Amino acid sequence: MRFPIVQTAVAAWSLFLTTSLAAPYRRNPFTILQKTTDHGVVFTLGNITYLADTKNPKAAIPTMANDLAVFHEGFSMPMTVIDANAVSKTGKSFEDIVENYLAADDVFTMDFLEAVCLTSSTGLPSVNSSVFSQLAAMDAKHVFMPAHLAEHHNHHKALSLHAMDGNVSLPPGPYLLSSTAGRLTFAPVYRLYEDSYRNFLYGAYEGSNGSYTPLDVTYPSFRYPAIPVPSRLYSWNDPRPFAGFRVAIKDLFDMKGLVTSGGSQAWAHINEPAMSNAPSIQRIIDLGGVLVGKYKLAQFASGAHPWDWQDEHYPFNPRGDGWLTCSSSSSGGGCSIAAYDWLDYAIGSDTGSSVRRPAAVSGTYGNRPSQGLMSLEQVLPLGGATDTAGVFSGDPHRWAYFAKHWYTPSLYQSTNTTGLSTLQVPDTNAFPKTILYPTDYLPLNNSAAEPILDNLISNMTSLFGMTVKRINFTATVDTASDPAVANITSLWRDTLRIINTYTQYTEVGAPLIAAWAALFDGRFPPIDPARREPWHTFNATAVNQQTYNEALRQKKAAVEWYESQFQYSTPESCSESVLLYDIGTGGLPSYREEELNNNPLATYADTKEEGAAIPGATICPLFGCADFTVPIGQVKYYSQVTFHTEYVPVTINMVVKRGCDFVLYNMIEKLADVGMLNAVQTGRTAF
Ligand SMILES: *[C@@H]1O[C@H](CO)[C@@H](O)[C@H](O)[C@H]1NC(C)=O
Ligand SMILES: *[C@@H]1O[C@H](CO)[C@@H](O)[C@H](O)[C@H]1NC(C)=O
Ligand SMILES: *[C@@H]1O[C@H](CO)[C@@H](O)[C@H](O)[C@H]1NC(C)=O
Ligand SMILES: *[C@@H]1O[C@H](CO)[C@@H](O)[C@H](O)[C@H]1NC(C)=O
Ligand SMILES: *[C@@H]1O[C@H](CO)[C@@H](O)[C@H](O)[C@H]1NC(C)=O
Ligand SMILES: *[C@@H]1O[C@H](CO)[C@@H](O)[C@H](O)[C@H]1NC(C)=O
Ligand SMILES: *[C@@H]1O[C@H](CO)[C@@H](O)[C@H](O)[C@H]1NC(C)=O
Ligand SMILES: *[C@@H]1O[C@H](CO)[C@@H](O)[C@H](O)[C@H]1NC(C)=O
Ligand SMILES: *[C@@H]1O[C@H](CO)[C@@H](O)[C@H](O)[C@H]1NC(C)=O
Ligand SMILES: *[C@@H]1O[C@H](CO)[C@@H](O)[C@H](O)[C@H]1NC(C)=O
Repeated sequence: MRFPIVQTAVAAWSLFLTTSLAAPYRRNPFTILQKTTDHGVVFTLGNITYLADTKNPKAAIPTMANDLAVFHEGFSMPMTVIDANAVSKTGKSFEDIVENYLAADDVFTMDFLEAVCLTSSTGLPSVNSSVFSQLAAMDAKHVFMPAHLAEHHNHHKALSLHAMDGNVSLPPGPYLLSSTAGRLTFAPVYRLYEDSYRNFLYGAYEGSNGSYTPLDVTYPSFRYPAIPVPSRLYSWNDPRPFAGFRVAIKDLFDMKGLVTSGGSQAWAHINEPAMSNAPSIQRIIDLGGVLVGKYKLAQFASGAHPWDWQDEHYPFNPRGDGWLTCSSSSSGGGCSIAAYDWLDYAIGSDTGSSVRRPAAVSGTYGNRPSQGLMSLEQVLPLGGATDTAGVFSGDPHRWAYFAKHWYTPSLYQSTNTTGLSTLQVPDTNAFPKTILYPTDYLPLNNSAAEPILDNLISNMTSLFGMTVKRINFTATVDTASDPAVANITSLWRDTLRIINTYTQYTEVGAPLIAAWAALFDGRFPPIDPARREPWHTFNATAVNQQTYNEALRQKKAAVEWYESQFQYSTPESCSESVLLYDIGTGGLPSYREEELNNNPLATYADTKEEGAAIPGATICPLFGCADFTVPIGQVKYYSQVTFHTEYVPVTINMVVKRGCDFVLYNMIEKLADVGMLNAVQTGRTAF
């Protein structure tokens, strides 16, 4: 099945275009701004800026002898490739095609109709000559078509017709036509979007050998990084499930040709560009996804507060007053999905809360999958047995669709990495029967937000025939006789700390410290405070392979308790219960500026709930379960920045037993089907 990524825009655009296409069109001038260091061409058409990857053209044909006068060496012009199989015999359908292109794509505009190339992979049908008057009305100047067809047409006097000797087999869409060394080349075109919320480190695009090129320049009218997004038309005939999905990547995952920085300039300094993509990222590419750049993260995936970022400038959250936290560590991921409607997904990692919390504060969907669901090879580690990879999306159906295709058994982690049993991941409607409402984590902090949650709960109970059970999670653990959870505080403070420290120190911290000392006369690397002291004072007596192995053993025992006594499978349910809690701010603003949070009407984003033994965020890192952040509404607050009423998103977290991810996705899709859950908007408000 192909996912219809752009549906909603079609109707409105068609209405507008029916009238606009009928009138003669005046084209915006084609203006070259500059060439990039990687031989790309940056140009504008009207107020839109583009990059053409002229170094990696998608096709080339010999320049025809009688065209040399026009297409002299170095000449270039925007052009559109149109699949002639889609042009039926009437001129009217050509107009329809252009309207469809405009409605489905934010890259193509009528300014690309300066030249048109009719192509076909299956043999060209005859083209009705009324097409030419249509093109002339759209101010087209040049039409390229195969020689045998061109001969039969008395073309329109305003058009020059070019017979192609060569064979051009290209996806439809906008290209930059350039004349070079006796050939006409067709370079793919990217629209450059300004990263105005500063969520990205940089944009990147894929070259012909699968290596990524960073867009390392800024443009006169852009104050922030430019993110290149390809035309959606390029993937129209691509049957792969993620064809054309635009995906942003946390700069913790390897992308071929780019240095993985982990958010640290020091780490980037001592490392070479990645030789290949991380397997988790390669899978996205194999499924047809398009990677558009690397986004910002708290350095080395730490839980650093916004005000503790030193190496990079903290990203901005579009919600509310624009001064709210993006949380951490996948900060740029949640905020970019909340900010940009040209972006479809962002990939993040979650060790302690790093996808779930950024999703909560940005009002987007984000998941921590079951422990072991996705390979973390070629991803800078934090805790080898607590790291997970998740995805942000603004739409519940698209989120579920992505996850179900991305997570695949061949990329599950081995049991010796997780220290846990082999994963079983059924894709069924064996839904939970019980909603666990933990009184040590709920109600939501802001009483105005709680009715939104109450509505969801009553909706879930009637839709799935569930019953609500109020529990005290801390008391449940406290009274458990199993020694595996006898001291949950210690499981959190000692066991998880060892797991979350050892892998990163061994694979990142120690090598960085050694390399820096060797390069700079014994100096310690310049890094953010979150890791400076812990690495400087790292205690190998307390944290080493032996204590790590012992921590894995303790965690495994805790997971076994959880899955037999707390969230277990029954013949009817993958996970008998779904546990609700809030990883976000409970409907209060949490600001990027520290001092503004010292206010009863605001909150710090990562407080531990009073009376609970461990933070709600820690339940799944400890017990291996799946934990999804789901936006459910929004509430008002009075901003200490705009001095105006604003809205902050309200989210809830849904937790199920390890392995029940797809069942939870199916439940979320059913809630979306009845309109209880909805796609969020980009920008100031989620709803
Ligand atoms: C760009 O120009 C178009 C029409 O020429 C206009 O509708 C649009 O608002 C402009 N966009 C910006 C960002 O200026
Ligand atoms: C070409 O298109 C015109 C106008 O739509 C139509 O009247 C004519 O029948 C078409 N010719 C052929 C051969 O289909
Ligand atoms: C043109 O390319 C298509 C698709 O690659 C191929 O099927 C066809 O045989 C080619 N035609 C010629 C004349 O080379
Ligand atoms: C791939 O292309 C990049 C950029 O064009 C280049 O730097 C790199 O050497 C190429 N790698 C291989 C393996 O060809
Ligand atoms: C885990 O098991 C795999 C396959 O059995 C093995 O190749 C790998 O070295 C093991 N890793 C560790 C950390 O023991
Ligand atoms: C669930 O919520 C939706 C949207 O608020 C509402 O239309 C629907 O009637 C509710 N269903 C139940 C069973 O409460
Ligand atoms: C939950 O149980 C813990 C431990 O028994 C207790 O300290 C706490 O006050 C309880 N919380 C609530 C809300 O009942
Ligand atoms: C639980 O562990 C903590 C931290 O390691 C320790 O301070 C506390 O004394 C332990 N409590 C019990 C009841 O063993
Ligand atoms: C290092 O850890 C060991 C074992 O926990 C402890 O005895 C020792 O005091 C620690 N050293 C420092 C400097 O904290
Ligand atoms: C609720 O917010 C207050 C600040 O207004 C904070 O002190 C408290 O810890 C928060 N409670 C929870 C459960 O987050």
